[in-house]
Amino acid sequence: MSTVATPSGVYLPVSQELTAFDLPVRGELPRELCGLYVRNGPNPRSGPSAHPFFGDGMLHGVWIENGRARKYANRWVQTLPSLPTSDLRRSVANTNVIAFGNQLLALEETAFPYEVDAGLNTVGPFDFGGELKTPMTAHPKRCPITGDLHFFGASWNPADPPLTYHRANAAGELVVSREIAVPGHTMMHDFAITENYVVFMDLPVVFDAERAREGTMPFRWSDT
Ligand SMILES: [Fe+2]
Repeated sequence: MSTVATPSGVYLPVSQELTAFDLPVRGELPRELCGLYVRNGPNPRSGPSAHPFFGDGMLHGVWIENGRARKYANRWVQTLPSLPTSDLRRSVANTNVIAFGNQLLALEETAFPYEVDAGLNTVGPFDFGGELKTPMTAHPKRCPITGDLHFFGASWNPADPPLTYHRANAAGELVVSREIAVPGHTMMHDFAITENYVVFMDLPVVFDAERAREGTMPFRWSDT
């Protein structure tokens, strides 16, 4: 399947980066709710994109303070072009955004995160001071007790380990990177943590290099 749909209506991308102040509030914002609400999503610069997953990441932020929506801004994450290469700095950074230490990280599961400052302006690829050697999932989990960030890197490249578990401490240092033995390269989008365990599922959608070479969706279902 390779249908390129022309976006319309609410699916149209936003074409401009805007900054606005003192937004009208319908209803009421709780006065004790203060901070930055930010979300991320695909927003192709060119209008259409080859697939909804492939649009360039755009952050939308609302600064909330004392019952006011003090400011709004939207900014593209300024990434290197996402090309079929093993360069982990290439990403669309369009899937999730988290606060980590003093920075925001825009995430997309095939690459390094992108660091973004408090004004939503891109700093650059973030690799934990050179310590991260794998992609980073878009769905890391923060331990509510220690503040540690648990995450994984799943690679579809047959030359790379399929799955690596990572843990960063609350100070932002990558303190654990451990390969996990799994039967193959699967499409692993998410995982779970408990008080004592990290849970990975042995998932049935597997990477297929032959299909990748043919230029089709590089995954297939596997019953085994
Ligand atoms: Fe997701």
